[in-house]
Amino acid sequence: MQKRICLLSSLLLLAACKASPPIKAVSTLEEVMHHMVIPNADVVWDSVGTIYTVGHVEERQPRTDEEWLAVEASSTILTEAGNLLMMEGRAKDNGPWMDRARALREAAAAVHQAAKARDVAAVFERGGYLFDACQGCHFQYRFEKDPNTIRSH
Ligand code: HEC
Repeated sequence: MQKRICLLSSLLLLAACKASPPIKAVSTLEEVMHHMVIPNADVVWDSVGTIYTVGHVEERQPRTDEEWLAVEASSTILTEAGNLLMMEGRAKDNGPWMDRARALREAAAAVHQAAKARDVAAVFERGGYLFDACQGCHFQYRFEKDPNTIRSH
């Protein structure tokens, strides 16, 4: 009996929590992509690499503290964007979508660690894993709407 009351009260508690979630998805998924995810991923990807132009090779990497902080800031935003993608109202399901969003969060957190360590090679390598995290979700949830877009991206 004791057990049953306990179970009942925890079910009621759960119901109460569900009735008034403390956070809610306000911006659309497209807005999160366009205003948070895309610009900040670009900061990460543009920060390191080798740029070949005629007669010139540029090894790009953050050099000043300010430049490193920009990579730290953008990877922080991407990390938390992973959490935002999991919110009710944005998540497309409760299974693989969550794994894809978690993959973004973890890849971005790894970039952040590398930026904090001022490790150029690690930012480059983990930037690649970040790209994989984007594409993993897109192949499953974005391109399915219009498979032709796979070819144009
Ligand atoms: C958990 C899933 C998920 C992850 C992770 C994800 N996206 Fe997206 N993204 C989507 C979906 C779904 C759409 C399509 C939105 C729509 O049109 O309804 C989209 C759309 C886009 C678009 C197209 C926007 C447009 O207007 O056509 C770009 C560009 C984009 N994402 C970039 C990124 C980048 C860069 C990353 C990684 C840093 C990323 N996304 C990570 C799910 C994801």
